Amino acid sequence: MSILKIYQYPEAVLREETRKVESFDDELGKLVEDMADTMYAAPGIGLAAPQVGRSLKVVVLDTSRDADRKYFAMINPEIIAHEGSQFDEEGCLSVPELIAQVKRHRRVTVTFQDLAGAPRELCAQDRFAVVLQHELDHLDGVLFLDHLSPLKRSLYKKKVRKWQEEE
Ligand code: NI
Repeated sequence: MSILKIYQYPEAVLREETRKVESFDDELGKLVEDMADTMYAAPGIGLAAPQVGRSLKVVVLDTSRDADRKYFAMINPEIIAHEGSQFDEEGCLSVPELIAQVKRHRRVTVTFQDLAGAPRELCAQDRFAVVLQHELDHLDGVLFLDHLSPLKRSLYKKKVRKWQEEE
C-alpha cells in the first residue's frame, strides 16, 4: 500500500496531455492500487492519474458510501455520447478549499478498458455522471476551475497566490 503525493493547482502536471495506456501489466495494476489507496486516504470519490503526477489515461472511482472498498478503474476512458445538462457542486483534491457549482451533461456514455484491457461501456446519470465528467476532464488537463466564471476563477487564483506568498 502506498499513498502518493497529490499534486495541486497550479502544478504543471495537471495541465499536461495524458498518454494512452498500451500495456495492461503489473505496473498498471500497482499504479491503480496506489491511486485507490491515495483516494481513500484523502478521502475522495475519484482520482485521475495526473493528480498523482502521472500523465496517463487512468482514473479510479468509488462513489459508493460503503465502508468496504468497491472502487473501479477506467483505463483510456472516453465520453462517446451525452444528453441534457445539470448543475451540481464540485470540489477537487487538486484544487483545495474550493467548492463550486458546475454545469455538466446530465447523462453520459463512456467507453473504457478494464485492468485486463477488455473493452467496456457504461452509461451514467446525475451525480455519477458529474464525477465521471470531472475525472475525465483531468485526463485532458482540465480542472473544474476552468468551468467557472472568469471572476470566480480569478478570485481563486488570487487566493492561491496569497497562500504561495505565505509559504
Ligand atoms: Ni478533480
